[in-house]
Order: sequence, then C-alpha cells, then structure tokens
Amino acid sequence: MSPSVGTDIAHAAGILRGGGLVAFPTETVYGLGADASAAAAVSRIFAVKGRPRAHPLIVHLAAAEQLDAWCEAPGQAARALAAAFWPGPLTLIARRAPHVLDDVTGGAPTVGLRVPSHPMAQRLLAAFGDGVAAPSANRFGAVSPTTAAHVVADLGADVDYILDGGPCDVGVESTIVDVSTGTPALLRPGGVAREAIEAVLGRPLVTGASTTPAPGTLPSHYAPHARVVAVDAAALAAAVHDAPRPAAVLAPAGVLASLTLPEGVAALALPDDPRAMAHELYAALRDLDTRGLTTIVAALPPEAGLGAAVADRLRRAAGPRTVEDDHG
Ligand code: TXA
Ligand code: MG
Repeated sequence: MSPSVGTDIAHAAGILRGGGLVAFPTETVYGLGADASAAAAVSRIFAVKGRPRAHPLIVHLAAAEQLDAWCEAPGQAARALAAAFWPGPLTLIARRAPHVLDDVTGGAPTVGLRVPSHPMAQRLLAAFGDGVAAPSANRFGAVSPTTAAHVVADLGADVDYILDGGPCDVGVESTIVDVSTGTPALLRPGGVAREAIEAVLGRPLVTGASTTPAPGTLPSHYAPHARVVAVDAAALAAAVHDAPRPAAVLAPAGVLASLTLPEGVAALALPDDPRAMAHELYAALRDLDTRGLTTIVAALPPEAGLGAAVADRLRRAAGPRTVEDDHG
C-alpha cells in the first residue's frame, strides 16, 4: 500500500484526534506525530519506529503560551529562552506537569517541549489545539528525514498521513537545553547556535547533562550503513588515502578544492557556510548511503554556530554501533 501524502491540514488534525500518526515538516527535520495525551497513539510511534520505549519524546506546541500547561514552574531561564527562540529549533527540558504521560517522558520527571516555526507545523498544531508528541520520522538505520520523500522511504504506509512541506530549512534537529535544574545544560547541539543561547542567558551553558542520558545522545545514533570516518580538514588527505574502498569523501567545497582525490574515491561537496551545510547534511548522507560504499570519510567543520551541530552528527555517524543503535 502506498502512503497517503498531501497538504491537507484539517485531514491531518482529524487523524491526530482519532489516535492516528501524522508525519509533518518542521524547520529542523520531519516529525512522526501523535496526540501526546493519548497513550495508545504514543505507543504506536515506538512500534513504527522500532524505538525502545524508555526513550522520551518531544512534545510540540503551537505557541509559547502553552508552556505552563505542560511543565511545572518553568523558571526564568526557560521563559527567557522560549521568548527568544520560539517558534524555532530549540527544545527545552523542564519538569513535567502531572498529566504528562509516562509513555512520552519514558518515566522521567522531565518533559521535552518545543514550538516549531515551520508554517505547516504551526497550522497543524493550531488546528489540533494540543500537544503533539513527535520524534524524527525515520526508522531504524536511517538519519532524520528532511523531505517528505525521505519519510515515505523510511516509514511508508505505516504512517496514516504525511504532510508534505518541502525540504526542511535547518536540516538538523533542534538544540536541546535542559532547564529543569538551576544550571542550564546543553544536551544536543542543533538548529539554534550555543552562542545565541548563551547570549540570552548571560552565562555559559554547561555541556552534557544533569538528567538521564538522552538516547539521542548515544554515539551510534545517526550512523548510515557505510563506515563513517570523521576527521578534521587537516587530517583529511591521510584518512582518504587509508580508507577501505569503495570510498567517498564528504567535505565542504573549499576543503575539497585543495584535496587531490586518489583513483576510485568519489567526492560529495557540502556548502562552506555552516548553516547551508546543515541544510544539506542528511540528504548527502542518504545519497552516499545508496552508493554501496564501504567508507565515507567526512571532514569536520569548525565548531562555531551551526558547525557544532554538523560536527556532532558526523561524529555520531562515525561512532561505534551498540545495542542501543536505534537511530531514532
Ligand atoms: O528537531 C527536533 O528536535 C525533531 C523535530 C521532529 O522536532 N525531533 C527530534 O526528536 O529530533 P527525537 O525523538 O528524534 O530526538 C529527541 C531527543 C531524544 O534524544 C530524546 O532522548 C531527547 O530528545 N529527549 C526528549 N525528552 C527528553 C527528556 N525529558 N529528557 C532528556 N532528553 C529528552
Ligand atoms: Mg531522531
């Protein structure tokens, strides 16, 4: 059966109300959404993705005013970050409100909340009127989808409806900041640059976590099928020379220009600008993953702005595979 793809917001909201699954575009990546207040609907997300149930989901909201309905005493840092970056690619981890389902939080005392800025996500959330739990809309073994076609390829007819909003603008997932304690912590670099968040908070973010390690932060999370070797631009030539063939190099155009490609090694150029690079990253990894390569040698960009998120995803793609390898 071929999946149902379209742009009908009312139809999509009706499916969510009936306990169904809707894949929808956000400015970061496509999400696989369900009514966050319906345990059976949320359970289906885990079944379709093949994701362990203890991995918490982000609840997507139409507007920052809904923050207080989903968490307890958000505090000044949460309010300041919500005011500065919502709608936008930032997820806040806050202490959960009592009604938030364990199915959503994985039993954690916190909940992830985000107001996406994509116009189609905005219209869907407004039409539905309540929280939508959504992980990235990819299955086991794939990087996050940044087009409706990626969602079709990964989830096919297992999702009740796919809203097609074109390619995602940002292209990597949201930045996750834990504001559930007195010390705001960066759990995942993403679409909002760390520097911008620190400027609003007026203090540096601590890295890592005061909470349970997030499954999305496991090393193997974003790995494609080929073995990925991620190196600084300075070490690229040597890594390419040593890479088991067939191999391809993924690097910014400016870095590729000064590299002499050995015989039999393909190259895929990413834009030099970190924001544009993030936008292209997952489509490039998907492309390379269809070429039957043994090795992908990726050049790590400088870690300023969106470069930090790109470097993080490339390092994870290069990380060791584990039992927790759900690529969720
Ligand atoms: O950009 C995004 O964030 C996309 C779009 C669809 O919004 N969503 C996304 O969801 O990337 P997912 O499930 O693939 O990754 C969400 C990450 C996971 O690593 C999860 O463990 C973490 O957020 N997370 C969610 N709730 C959490 C909580 N209460 N405490 C700690 N981590 C949490
Ligand atoms: Mg994911």
